[in-house]
Amino acid sequence: MKLDVVFAPAGLVPAEVQGRTAFVIDILRATSAMCAAMSHGAKAIIPVASTEEALRLAQTIGSGDVLLAGEKHCVRIPGFNLGNSPLEMTEAAVRGRTLIVTTTNGTRALLACQGAAAVYPAAAVNLGVAAERAREVLERDGDLLVVCAGRDGSFALDDAYCAGRLVAATLGSRRPRREMNDAAIAALDLVRRYGDSWERPLTRSRAGRELIRLGFRDDVADAGQQDAYPVLPLFHERRVTLAAVPV
Ligand code: MLT
Repeated sequence: MKLDVVFAPAGLVPAEVQGRTAFVIDILRATSAMCAAMSHGAKAIIPVASTEEALRLAQTIGSGDVLLAGEKHCVRIPGFNLGNSPLEMTEAAVRGRTLIVTTTNGTRALLACQGAAAVYPAAAVNLGVAAERAREVLERDGDLLVVCAGRDGSFALDDAYCAGRLVAATLGSRRPRREMNDAAIAALDLVRRYGDSWERPLTRSRAGRELIRLGFRDDVADAGQQDAYPVLPLFHERRVTLAAVPV
């Protein structure tokens, strides 16, 4: 068995991803917002690398169903329909719509995992179903990769803690340390440190503090609502759609 956590996608080479199943975490806020949007009926989410690419793609698709969403420095990109807040992804806003999304770290992490056999955006809000799928994958393939979006190419406490919670929920009472990389062991150590409280690691993280400073305290609280959006988004062929939830 092999269970790897990567704290930031910066150094991730295609060979590390190829053919594996990856869970991508950007709890503050990209993957939380994606779960909210899919849970509220969005048709699909297309992650792209830049504002320019988002605008070009929207023009190419040219449909009234398309919404542009995303942030730069945590705030909505000028001219976009939505920011990156899970609370903006209401049913009224997103049902039946395709969202083209670009964010600072989250969409990059997803795009870095192209080439994986399957890529699932994960967060606290879909932890239960994500862990259930991760358990199935581990049993089937004996292999699992958890990729944290991190922050500007480096470690982020919020994502690393969430990775630890996902690994802990996936493994149950087992701790096969010899088959885990150091980042996976460290992520589990963070869970021991913070216990079950999402609030402490989220509000103490740099991303959490920044969001609170900018007036997004409710987003940080929403991102810590475990299993609030129990969906399993799947990033495949450049778009995120809903996978069947394990029963
Ligand atoms: C990111 O992709 O870095 C974020 O999700 C940032 C944010 O939501 O403000």
